[in-house]
Amino acid sequence: MKVLKSATTALYPLPVVLVTCGLERPNIITLAWAGTLCSKPPMVGIGVRPERYSHGLILQGQEFVVNLPRADQAAIVDYCGHVSGRDTDKWAACGLTPVPGSQVRVPVIAECPIALECRVVQRLPLGSHDLFIGEVVAIMASEEVLDERQRLDFERANLLVYAAEKYYRLGDPLGSYGDWRRGVG
Ligand SMILES: Cc1cc2nc3c(=O)[nH]c(=O)nc-3n(C[C@H](O)[C@H](O)[C@H](O)COP(=O)(O)O)c2cc1C
Repeated sequence: MKVLKSATTALYPLPVVLVTCGLERPNIITLAWAGTLCSKPPMVGIGVRPERYSHGLILQGQEFVVNLPRADQAAIVDYCGHVSGRDTDKWAACGLTPVPGSQVRVPVIAECPIALECRVVQRLPLGSHDLFIGEVVAIMASEEVLDERQRLDFERANLLVYAAEKYYRLGDPLGSYGDWRRGVG
């Protein structure tokens, strides 16, 4: 039996990310409304409410960095999603270190294993949130998440996942892209 529920964005699980933004006094905001939009050129989208302090910083700087936190950084992610950069230095409060971006003026978080440096290509007001579409112009990765051939190895990154107000770590891999060739079932 199926039951009719009201329409929401019940699309889980999601990555949850720490977005850095702002040029003079950079800030950190936690976002779960973040996703991949295009491969070539590489583009990601973030949904930010206009009332967020970070919204103005992104609008002003036209750049942002999507920092991917590890599972053991869940407490930092939750903190940066409840406190505002209007009145708090979240870098100092969380013991995070800003590292200059390679292609953008916004800093990367040293303690996060992977960072996507983005330039805003479009802002789309949708309602409660504005969608900022960012072209990924560079990726900064910590050495420990690279494999022997210097490729990003996401299993080594141990990233944080979000679903319906809970934080999770990833479980064991169940299969790989292309497994269908070996037959279904
Ligand atoms: C898990 C989590 C996910 C969040 N996702 C979003 C989001 O996608 N968009 C948004 O505008 N705010 C989101 N927030 C709320 C902001 O992170 C929060 O309001 C933050 O304090 C704003 O910071 P700022 O005032 O320094 O910009 C989320 C908060 C949490 C804890």
